[in-house]
Amino acid sequence: MTYLAYANERVLFAGIDFSGLTNIPIVVDPYDRYLGEHTELGGSIYDVHSDGSGICYSTARRPIVNMRPNHRHWVHSCPRKLPFDLYLVDWLEQKNFEYDVITDHDLHHRGEDLLRQYDAIMTGSHPEYWTSSMLDGIDGYLDHGGRLMYLGGNGFYWVTAVDPERDHIIEVRRGYAGSRAWPSHVGELELASTGEVGGIWRHLGRSPNALVGVGFAAQGWDLKTPGYKRLPASFDPKVDFIFSGIGEDETIGDFGLVMSGAAGDELDRVDFELGTPPQTMRLATSQGMHSAYYLVAHEDMMVTMPTIDGTNNENVRADMVYFETQNGGAVFSVGSINWLGSLSHNGYENNVSAITENVLREFIK
Ligand SMILES: [Fe+2]
Repeated sequence: MTYLAYANERVLFAGIDFSGLTNIPIVVDPYDRYLGEHTELGGSIYDVHSDGSGICYSTARRPIVNMRPNHRHWVHSCPRKLPFDLYLVDWLEQKNFEYDVITDHDLHHRGEDLLRQYDAIMTGSHPEYWTSSMLDGIDGYLDHGGRLMYLGGNGFYWVTAVDPERDHIIEVRRGYAGSRAWPSHVGELELASTGEVGGIWRHLGRSPNALVGVGFAAQGWDLKTPGYKRLPASFDPKVDFIFSGIGEDETIGDFGLVMSGAAGDELDRVDFELGTPPQTMRLATSQGMHSAYYLVAHEDMMVTMPTIDGTNNENVRADMVYFETQNGGAVFSVGSINWLGSLSHNGYENNVSAITENVLREFIK
């Protein structure tokens, strides 16, 4: 769903001034340049029509040029989404794990029954777009003792629909209050495909915090991207299995192929008021380590205020969490898009790789 939502994204050509967004030089990938020149390929759900109204549909039945292994995203000149998720596939190969790849469409159609065949499920880097039946599937899996590793950021965020008759078409209505690329017109919040109310799941009572312990908090793109510092809960014997081989004062993931750090791009944090389960253990955080290029998610800003960046707002952070669910289930979340980009550092010998492996080995025991 995320790949389809971003398919042929051409925000760069919308005439918006992105010069203050990041200190990373914006590099236009040849595929993006092609998109700018060929508007007949259709935009993404991040783009608008020529009259300024938002594009709320995307189809797989067209050439999609920006979901290819060698595409580099303009915002940080690195892989993002599909090419980025290949870092996880590469790591699974390197480590000789046996795995299957399940698409969001598979989960949408087959739900919990599909997931229940597996001891553990790992997400990609940016599982942002979720249909209600996908959420039901993962909910049911966890309720029946499934184990989930949420290895991304800004996940479980937008209400998404698949056209019931045309599986290749998805629909998203941006609504009025999430961190959005365009606003819905008044009275246009319902998804035409299903009749469901659109927007972000948080505003419909299904926050990511309740599902995976963390939910969207901040975003930023910066040459200096931090890792995580361990918190007291990480020394609880209950989570020894996660931190086996990791030093007490080690920074986790202050390296990586994307912006040189594991806690970067879009970030998620713990919030008990938003539904983070009370038994959640907050193991590590990037709190206080982000620059002013990292900004708080505006749905967390109740009134306009000046303290909205990584240097002055404690909500600008990624939290790493672990909690157990009923029937022996468990969830481990890292709350950052960049995590997977740090797996291969130093020949796969590093603390991001080690923590990921520690958790996975425990979950598939
Ligand atoms: Fe996104």
